Amino acid sequence: MDTPTAVADEHMAEAIGRPDLIRVDDRLICLRFETMKVVSALAAVRHLLDSGAVRRGDTLLDSSSGIYAYALALACHRYGMRCHIIGSTTVDHTLRTQLAVLGAHVEQMPPSSDLKLDQKRRVARVREILRVHPEYHWMRQYHDDVHYLGYRAIAERVRAAVPADGSPLTLVGGVGSGASTGALARYLREGRERSGNRAGPVRLTGVQPFGSVTFGSEHVADPEIIIAGIGSSIPFGNVTHTAYDTVHWLSFHTALTGSVDLLRRHAVFAGLSTGASYAAARWEHARVPGGTTVFIAPDTGHRYVDTVFARHQEAADLDDLAPRTVSSLDELALPWARMEWNGAPAPASAGTGTGAGGSTWSAEGEP
Ligand SMILES: Cc1ncc(COP(=O)(O)O)c(C=O)c1O
Repeated sequence: MDTPTAVADEHMAEAIGRPDLIRVDDRLICLRFETMKVVSALAAVRHLLDSGAVRRGDTLLDSSSGIYAYALALACHRYGMRCHIIGSTTVDHTLRTQLAVLGAHVEQMPPSSDLKLDQKRRVARVREILRVHPEYHWMRQYHDDVHYLGYRAIAERVRAAVPADGSPLTLVGGVGSGASTGALARYLREGRERSGNRAGPVRLTGVQPFGSVTFGSEHVADPEIIIAGIGSSIPFGNVTHTAYDTVHWLSFHTALTGSVDLLRRHAVFAGLSTGASYAAARWEHARVPGGTTVFIAPDTGHRYVDTVFARHQEAADLDDLAPRTVSSLDELALPWARMEWNGAPAPASAGTGTGAGGSTWSAEGEP
């Protein structure tokens, strides 16, 4: 009998969590997830079980409005945990239905067009549940760095796919909780040290919507809808500001142009934060001859069909767009700004998260 040449996954979550690496241009690579936070939730739950912080059958609780809810529900299904989600008003029918069948208990907030109010209500509800059920474990995806762990294996995949000739690697990704970009950069940099610097230096570029406190753009509002999953109105403990070399802020319309261009030119159907990261990545890539640039695509385009892809005729020509590089946060302005962050600490408005809970913003669906 022939020995099998492939190993089957133990659970669907492992298959969904594994990203693809797609070369979209010379040394420009898309790290494409179907749903990014699955790797993070799986490793977080595994760690909590292994360290004895929780036991099988316990209830894991968090507030979310999209991809983290799904990720946590899958991780709970995988490890035999109960899952309680305080879902935003933006959790859509498809997700709600799937979560119900997966066995997650979802409480949804009443309809509200005010997403900050929706966020406040969810945090208040989490606190209320914890008062009644102190035995529940609150995952705190925005603050607990247990959510970094799952990205170690992804960093190894990325490293294996880029040349080990000492040339620089630029990682570009949207910053919501900060876990994905922060963790990938941390593990890639550690891997570089272990390789005796055969792997090149790692630069990290964070991508933000305007109006977000995370990197100090709260004074510039984007009149159009915000970019799902990235940016915040409150500080998050999982953002390691000092890890970022460069930050880009993009308007909704610039991100839309990126998403449409990525589908049109490279057949990658991904969300709005991906479009923003792709636009920023192309710009950074052109500035580092001989370097490799990897940009993160956290979700597929399905949630954005009406808000983004159906409006494809509104997209500009990406080649005509460029960021304005600014040297201080006071100069930030729509539609696209870029600043050398140079590993600076958090701006005053985004000091270390307080553990107050919360979530990134959402137009159609938050994380
Ligand atoms: C679509 C999308 N892009 C980017 C991010 C940012 O990821 P992170 O929370 O790891 O910073 C999120 C997080 O929810 C997201 O939903």
